[in-house]
Amino acid sequence: MPLIPMQEYAARRQRVIDQIGADSIVIVPANNEVTRTGDGSYYFRQNSNFYYLTGFNEPDAVLVLAPGYEDGNFILFNRPRDPLMEIWNGHRAGQEGAVKEFGADAAYPIDEFYDHLPTLLINRKRVYYPVGRDMSIDEVLMESVNTLRSKVRSGVAVPEEFHSIEPMLHEMRLRKSAAEITTMRKAANASITAHKRAMKACKPGMHEYELEAELMYEFYRHGCRTPAYSSIVGGGKNGCILHYITNNEVLKDGELVLIDAGGEYDYYASDITRTFPINGKFTEPQKQIYELVLKSQLAAIDMIRPGVPFFDIQKTIHRILVKGLIELGILKGDLETLLEQQAIRRFYMHNSGHWLGLDTHDAGVYKINNEWRPLEKNFVLTVEPGLYIQANSEGVDPKWWNIGVRIEDDVLVTESGCEVITPGIPKTVAEIEAFMAEGK
Ligand code: GLY
Ligand code: MN
Ligand code: MN
Repeated sequence: MPLIPMQEYAARRQRVIDQIGADSIVIVPANNEVTRTGDGSYYFRQNSNFYYLTGFNEPDAVLVLAPGYEDGNFILFNRPRDPLMEIWNGHRAGQEGAVKEFGADAAYPIDEFYDHLPTLLINRKRVYYPVGRDMSIDEVLMESVNTLRSKVRSGVAVPEEFHSIEPMLHEMRLRKSAAEITTMRKAANASITAHKRAMKACKPGMHEYELEAELMYEFYRHGCRTPAYSSIVGGGKNGCILHYITNNEVLKDGELVLIDAGGEYDYYASDITRTFPINGKFTEPQKQIYELVLKSQLAAIDMIRPGVPFFDIQKTIHRILVKGLIELGILKGDLETLLEQQAIRRFYMHNSGHWLGLDTHDAGVYKINNEWRPLEKNFVLTVEPGLYIQANSEGVDPKWWNIGVRIEDDVLVTESGCEVITPGIPKTVAEIEAFMAEGK
């Protein structure tokens, strides 16, 4: 199932080692097993940074990169084999598997991590780890450093600097490799099929969760073991709640439904939103708002290429939405003044999108030295403008109330432009209406 070869994980670890220097050490813990209630167990989700460096999806492990260490550069602490536990919960790689299958130079049982740590830290000047993310690692590290301090008279040097490993890993994660892009296409394709299935199945009188079930069916069928985030299925007024995940209301004739959902394939996310009429036919006000959001999304996608500062996408969207809302009489005033006043925030309160990858809101900073960073080839980001007009919006004609529209696609930055990696889901008014009418 995983499409990323082990050599790629090794190359990532080498790139980290090349950046930190020989007198440093990297420590990245895995996620722990989630709490079990009774006999049931929940799906385990690995820590994204740990997975990025190992491809290892068992809980209770720690990666150590210690250049020049006597055991080798890459040491994995992980769970030992345990025949009885494996009967209950499945195969463990154990220490042998860590070396043979996952390329560790040496592996030790996780319970021995604490004993090894002071020795690993000897003569390392800098320690890179996820500072402040996991209190137990902070604590164990400081204790080990103190243990070492008592040995300085025997000539050992104690680490002096503690750095977050995250900026380095997150910069690496921003630029997707060919294998990562292939994996993201798998997640995208599962999600495309899911959205089409839900759109086709939709009928007035269904519950929001019934559409969610249609999505889940396609995610699972295509090898996504989990959605990348809780699916949002919001009918009518619920489409105006940005992170609505209750999904338990009845879908009403004459209203819109907003579906924001994406599958996760081998830990990589897809993130797609479509908004469409529950009965298959837009009303005039719904169509006007929908077409305005679509216009802004298409213009935003059109401008994406290397070198464009991230926030320019939002500026393009703002200009189109404000101009359109003035024309519809929803905003009143002069375009430039309204833009300056951020008047759009009342109806469109989120960003144009975000990086996408191992996490839905993926790692990586958006500003460098306080300037919006320019897009680069092999960045993947979402483009997701929206308009949300709540009921009782002051000064807004009731015909617009409870119209919530978002349109979201995933975009890969290419050499000279971009590629939408989530194509093929009906998106124009005509496409949606024709698609929903098919077979009815
Ligand atoms: N589904 C979360 C987002 O679109 O950012
Ligand atoms: Mn989304
Ligand atoms: Mn998104």
